[in-house]
Amino acid sequence: MSFETLDIDRRTDGLAIITINRPDRLNALNANVLSELRSVSEEFAGNKDLRAVVLTGAGRAFVAGADIAAMNEMSAEEAAEFGDLGHATMDAIEALPMPTIAAVNGFALGGGLELALACDLIYLSDSASVGLPEVGLGIIPGFGGTQRLGRRIGWQQARRLVFTGESISADEARRIGLAVDVFSGEDFFDEVLSVASTIGDKGPIAVRQAKSLMRQGSETTLSEGNKLEIQAFAGIWDSQDRNEGMTAFLDKRSPDFTGS
Ligand code: COA
Repeated sequence: MSFETLDIDRRTDGLAIITINRPDRLNALNANVLSELRSVSEEFAGNKDLRAVVLTGAGRAFVAGADIAAMNEMSAEEAAEFGDLGHATMDAIEALPMPTIAAVNGFALGGGLELALACDLIYLSDSASVGLPEVGLGIIPGFGGTQRLGRRIGWQQARRLVFTGESISADEARRIGLAVDVFSGEDFFDEVLSVASTIGDKGPIAVRQAKSLMRQGSETTLSEGNKLEIQAFAGIWDSQDRNEGMTAFLDKRSPDFTGS
């Protein structure tokens, strides 16, 4: 599959890197970028060999928001369609069965932060700046920002960011739990890839099961979530990966997981 606004790097180690490549607009999300992100996510969802997906941006931005020039031309009906497309795209990314990592290399504003929030893990370059500036444009975050941010960092900090529209530094984002970690500019992408590789070396069925359980658990009661965990724990037992992982430990060697 080839894309106009995305570069896709499918590596032999089971990692995939999606780079949003519209640097002259700071990778702003127009309908084309959103549709392409949704298509690639739908394609990746069915790929059993993929162990982790890294999402990043070309140039000095991750994504500087939804495309303001495009939005300024929209009627209310078109805005509703654009909002639907944005949500469908974020949902498709969030539903990916393998871990997803937002490698936020620069500005992640508005739709850019919403895109990062659809990923499992957020890492920031020390030059990154993140926020939801929509209220300064007289609109609201429209791709999940009023919903996912509070669930990620707690509602008080989310309200502060949404109401003030202010952008915060990478260090502050880490301090309030919005990012796992901050890496310096020159090492940034290698450090993120190293996290992805660590995940990729683990039992892929187990990693996917764990992701699914945590996702379901965040939307249900503790007792329901625990029941799901009991089923999944036993459900994985007859996999070759369970056998390989435990045998390798007892043999004092590294496991070689095949995802079966
Ligand atoms: N939509 C459309 N175009 C955008 C954009 C967006 N969200 N963000 C940046 N661009 C464009 C700029 O209009 C500019 O185009 P030009 O070269 O034709 O003037 C180009 O990308 C470079 O941006 P510029 O503003 O010149 O860079 P900067 O370093 O001075 O500022 C930002 C960077 C991110 C602070 C600034 O671009 C900005 O505030 N962008 C909008 C952020 C926003 O409100 N996002 C939420 C949208 S709902």
